[in-house]
Amino acid sequence: MDVVKKRVLSGMRPTGPLHLGHLLGALENWVRLQDEYECYYMVADWHALMSEYAEPAPIGGFVREIVADWLAVGLDPARSTIFLQSDVPEHAELHLVFSMVTPLPWLERCPTYKEQLQEVKGRDLMTYGFLGYPVLQAADILVYRAEYVPVGKDQLPHLELTREIARRFNNFTRPIFPEPRALLTPAPKLLGLDNRKMSKSYDNYISLSDDPDVVRNKVRSMITDPRRIRLADPGHPDVCTVFAYRGLFQADRIEEIESACREAAVGCTACKDELSGAVNALLDPIRRRRREWLEGDRIERVLADGAARARAAAAETMKQVRGALGW
Ligand code: TRP
Ligand code: SF4
Repeated sequence: MDVVKKRVLSGMRPTGPLHLGHLLGALENWVRLQDEYECYYMVADWHALMSEYAEPAPIGGFVREIVADWLAVGLDPARSTIFLQSDVPEHAELHLVFSMVTPLPWLERCPTYKEQLQEVKGRDLMTYGFLGYPVLQAADILVYRAEYVPVGKDQLPHLELTREIARRFNNFTRPIFPEPRALLTPAPKLLGLDNRKMSKSYDNYISLSDDPDVVRNKVRSMITDPRRIRLADPGHPDVCTVFAYRGLFQADRIEEIESACREAAVGCTACKDELSGAVNALLDPIRRRRREWLEGDRIERVLADGAARARAAAAETMKQVRGALGW
């Protein structure tokens, strides 16, 4: 029997290069989901515009880079629909329709809205579009009638709103939309190189596209156990970010690494070079495939094909939406 695969949709904003946090926290999972689901993976350039509207020019360059990263880690354009949000105007149309049914208080009390207003510095986010960020996200998901959305915990309020918007629209008209659920990524939290949250504004991460010597130098700059001043001082791996990284990238050797640190059998520089060796071994094939995908117009062709497939699916939903409105 032919089983119809359930649909998955997820997206990322093109605001910077992708890094190891994205790889472990999302992309490895996205790659796996391709076996079981019909996947839609979207570059959310309109969502990026909501915070970058005053300086939108870099967004276009990041789009190409992000898609190259996606393809390099194994998203497969033959199986998944890989596309750019702004290539599919149906997202904007559904966003508009949803904005008519979404009560303002739902948006004003959304925790991510309040947080971003406080946290994001140097940008005026008191805009109409920014308040409606989750409404556009709901349209992204529901225009494909996707049932599952792989995201991190921070996005759960947006998924909750997506379900509420779907339910409200369905109640007013007819049951068109599913109530999509999050597929929480079972990912270890990877801290930044300086032990703070990994973030573009701290510039504390290793990008998937960093050259081997850049990786080595970044790892060399990582903060280690502050009590370990001399080579002979025993280390405390539990407070050392290098150790946390080695636990993720060299899990099979973690006991040996831990005792070498505690017994001062290894120096921090040597320990770091072993970590960068492991990270570079992981990134080597990714960097190679990335370069191949960036040749000529391969990325543009993937996006053109993705846009055509996405538009066909989105147009089908919009036909039903207009029908439900009685038009
Ligand atoms: N809001 C998401 C983020 O900041 C990006 C995003 C936009 C998204 N549209 C989406 C994620 C639809 C999942 C589904 O990471
Ligand atoms: Fe950290 Fe390695 Fe130094 Fe131990 S030896 S403190 S794990 S860098």
